[in-house]
Amino acid sequence: MARGRFILLEGCDRAGKSTQCAKLVAALQDKGHAVELCKFPDRTTTIGQMIHAYLTNAKELDDKAIHLLFSANRWEAMQQMKRKLRAGTHLIVDRYAYSGVAFSTAKGLDLTWCKNPDRGLVRPDLTFFLDLPTVEAEKRGGFGEERYENRELQEKVREVFLQLKSKEWVMIDARHSVPTMHHEILKVTEDKIREGERDAEFAEED
Ligand code: TMP
Ligand code: MG
Repeated sequence: MARGRFILLEGCDRAGKSTQCAKLVAALQDKGHAVELCKFPDRTTTIGQMIHAYLTNAKELDDKAIHLLFSANRWEAMQQMKRKLRAGTHLIVDRYAYSGVAFSTAKGLDLTWCKNPDRGLVRPDLTFFLDLPTVEAEKRGGFGEERYENRELQEKVREVFLQLKSKEWVMIDARHSVPTMHHEILKVTEDKIREGERDAEFAEED
């Protein structure tokens, strides 16, 4: 059986990642795939609750301390994510280590220092970057509710994301409509899943 694919959606706040993740999970399920959604930060865990308190301004934390909590929140999910991938379940992941590095670096922390705690995490097989100019994000509902949702920081975050971008990233123009983006994301994801299935068949023949 083919290992599940790890599909990541990254981007600034209000780019539409959560909407696209939900639509992607539903579409793949409809087509008979085993698929699950993961979201970071995962606010349901003890660490996640601390992160939530920080993001909603209920709690103050040192910049490095919160950076490490975001990373720990990924590490605590690792064994289960690996188990699911090994069992052939595809994971659709809403934010991951790139967000961790982009936000903390934008706040002024050193880039290499920020990358270190996430070293060794399972790697995505496919990364989409939903790119939205900050002026557009600001117009969207809910912008400004949480700690990092201000123009100055979001612009820096976007710059760091674009600095982190590798040639494998699939760039999605997040000014496009929900169905247009979904169509593109689904197509590229299905190609990636098929590629994984083909690789597994060849491995069996060897
Ligand atoms: P969310 O809106 O996707 O729940 O994310 C909450 C905020 O946390 C968002 O502004 C991005 C930020 N963030 C980090 O600063 N570091 C991280 O590692 C992650 C996953 C998110
Ligand atoms: Mg948010």
